[in-house]
Amino acid sequence: MTKYFDGSIAQLEEKVASGLSDYRFQHILRVRDYAIKLATENGVDADKAEVAALVHDYAKERPDADFLSVIRAMNMDPDLTHWGNYIWHGIVGAEMIKSELGITDLEILDAVREHTTGGASEMTKLSQVLFMADYLEVGRDFPGVKVARELTNQSLSAGVRYQIVHTVQRLVQKETRIYPKSITTYNYWLDKV
Ligand SMILES: [Fe+2]
Ligand SMILES: [Fe+2]
Repeated sequence: MTKYFDGSIAQLEEKVASGLSDYRFQHILRVRDYAIKLATENGVDADKAEVAALVHDYAKERPDADFLSVIRAMNMDPDLTHWGNYIWHGIVGAEMIKSELGITDLEILDAVREHTTGGASEMTKLSQVLFMADYLEVGRDFPGVKVARELTNQSLSAGVRYQIVHTVQRLVQKETRIYPKSITTYNYWLDKV
């Protein structure tokens, strides 16, 4: 039994795995390991970090229609319908995690909501841990990943800053639309550390 889910971790893993490809589930297990490490080093409840990591991509492979019906049913911001899976699986996914897995811890749900866009001053340490674990898990390989890991080992907030700056840069380079919350995150963390 865990404090944050009505069942064992093995049961939670099974539920999460049943809705995802093995590729995605293996990523989740690596995020879990990295999240526990970062939580332990930064005074965050490791059990909470483990549950947040295990569920963070719970909704990632759901069809668009599922997200759109939750947005409507829950009266969520109608602007959300103009975005896609990249944004939905965190913000809308958190509602699915709550209703389908029975996870109600507000910090866990907020960490899931923020795991792709980050957040400004409202971002808890738990949310920072999940944000960084998703970016740095050992399967990740991108230019700068080593620097990002070292920086995050020294300072969690320096890691958050690194990630959001580089993500916004990458999105601009690709000429992709940027979700406003990512910009808010960028503006907030730019002069932090
Ligand atoms: Fe994700
Ligand atoms: Fe992920």
